[in-house]
This record gives sequence, structure tokens and C-alpha cells, in this order.
Amino acid sequence: MTAVSQGEIQIATESDILLARRAVREAATQVGFGATDVTRIVTAASELARNTFLYAGRGTMHWTRCELHGREGLELKFVDKGPGIPDISLALQEGYSTGKGLGMGLPGAKRLMDDMDIQSAPGHGTTITVKKWRKT
Ligand SMILES: Nc1ncnc2c1ncn2[C@@H]1O[C@H](COP(=O)(O)OP(=O)(O)OP(=O)(O)O)[C@@H](O)[C@H]1O
Ligand SMILES: [Mg+2]
Repeated sequence: MTAVSQGEIQIATESDILLARRAVREAATQVGFGATDVTRIVTAASELARNTFLYAGRGTMHWTRCELHGREGLELKFVDKGPGIPDISLALQEGYSTGKGLGMGLPGAKRLMDDMDIQSAPGHGTTITVKKWRKT
């Protein structure tokens, strides 16, 4: 996987979620995703950025325009040093929430992207990586 371009957004306030959404919309458009896919990617990013803010207080979103075997895509990585997720498969179940949410953020983001990887452990923070590849 080759990085074409990349950037990062610090997430520490509610309005940083908007900045993250804006950066993702711009990067996804540059990759050449159609309007529907751009919306899918921005929605997934929004949920993950919101989780970073809500559960960890702060973190970083790294975006990377990438290329693999002539195919272009977008990778988003959300890194925080918050409390971590004790049971990842439980957190991925629809309707599971330790907060006041609907428990749809993580499973929704997974469905909207091609790939999701969660690295997390209590006391060690959380890193969530999602990718989407452009069709043809
Ligand atoms: N970055 C994170 N750090 C710690 N825990 C997290 C993080 N992201 C998610 N979680 C945990 O995973 C649970 C499920 O997340 P998910 O986004 O699916 O639902 P939610 O945030 O509770 O509700 P919704 O997103 O529907 O408003 C959260 O309730 C929280 O316990
Ligand atoms: Mg959520």
C-alpha cells in the first residue's frame, strides 16, 4: 500500500468533529469516490470521531489517500489514549452502548466502509482503522 497524501486532525472539542468531517469529505472527493460513497465515508468518520471525543476526551484522526495494485482508496485511523474497549466484539454489536447512545456507531461505520480493524485494551487506548477502495 502506497500513501499518495496524508494529513491529521486533532480531535479535542465538539467542533473538531466538524473539521474531521470536512477533511474526510475533501480527501474522499480527491480520491474520486462518487457522492454516495463520499457520504458513507463522512458518516463513518463522523461516528468514529464522535466516539474518540466522547469516550477518550481527545485523540487524532489520520487520513491517508492510498494506492494498492492500481486501486485508489482512503484509510482513516483514529488513535486515542482513553480507557480502551474491554470487549471489542460486544462493542461491535448493534444496540450495545456504555453511554447514552444507540450503540449504532461502530457497527454502522463497519458496514459503511470496506474494512475495519480495532486495536484496544483497557488502559492502553484505542486505535480504529477503516478503509474504503474506489470501485474500478
Ligand atoms: N474510542 C473509544 N474508546 C473507548 N470506548 C469506546 C470507543 N469507541 C467506542 N467505545 C465503546 O463502544 C461502545 C459502542 O460504540 P458505538 O459507537 O457503537 O455506540 P455508542 O457511541 O454508545 O452510541 P451511538 O454511536 O449509536 O450514539 C460505546 O458505548 C463505548 O463503550
Ligand atoms: Mg458512538
